[in-house]
Amino acid sequence: MTTKGRPVIRSGCFITVEGIDGAGKSSQVDALAAWLREQGHEVVLTREPGGTPLAESLRALFLERDMDALTEALLVFAARRDHLCRLIEPALARGATVLCDRFTDATFAYQGGGRGFDLDVLSMLEGWVQQGRQPDLTLWFDLPADEAARRRAAARPADRLERETLAFFDQVRQGYARRCAGAPGRFARIDADQPRERVWADVQNAVANCAAFTGAVNVSGAAALSPVPPRA
Ligand SMILES: Nc1ncnc2c1ncn2[C@@H]1O[C@H](COP(=O)(O)OP(=O)(O)O)[C@@H](O)[C@H]1O
Ligand SMILES: [Mg+2]
Repeated sequence: MTTKGRPVIRSGCFITVEGIDGAGKSSQVDALAAWLREQGHEVVLTREPGGTPLAESLRALFLERDMDALTEALLVFAARRDHLCRLIEPALARGATVLCDRFTDATFAYQGGGRGFDLDVLSMLEGWVQQGRQPDLTLWFDLPADEAARRRAAARPADRLERETLAFFDQVRQGYARRCAGAPGRFARIDADQPRERVWADVQNAVANCAAFTGAVNVSGAAALSPVPPRA
């Protein structure tokens, strides 16, 4: 099936963006949404925890209140269930591309890697909540914890998780590395320790190489477009 000679995807593509705080996810995800829209895709740009009114309320509790690791995991998966049912699944069903700033790999990296929470319990919750749904592509922005901390300090006041130690973020990074090793076909590791333009080029290539997108995005054509500058 083609539109004006360009192949179009029949069912929605689910792309998640992962990495420790300060890795540069939000800076790139807006540009990615704009780039895909330029090429005719309906894009739903969303985030976790959050993405629906209920899940955003849970996000506020999650980011502000102290709680134990199981409570944290249950809150995140409760928010994810609402997000999947009300926003993500309907969008994929109508053929939209869903771009999500963080998803379940973050739960494994933060609650599993960072907090040391039981990975088997997380896997069980993942199965219940997602009923087999997984992203088609996960862009993992990989950056050393100390560089991420420098970027965060220059950018914004820290929330509850961002006040954690370098050692914590290093554990989170290792948590992401384990998830990546466990699903190499789904993950694209992006070296985030590069200038923004290089990161952006790697993002475009990873999306263009994704099986769900092959032929449906045009990297060389897009180079002629002026990509939206990543958000400051
Ligand atoms: N490639 C890069 N090089 C230097 N600084 C960057 C780069 N990408 C993002 N930044 C800056 O780092 C800070 C954190 O970026 P952000 O996109 O908010 O990260 P995240 O969403 O992963 O927490 C922002 O000030 C952003 O402008
Ligand atoms: Mg962000």
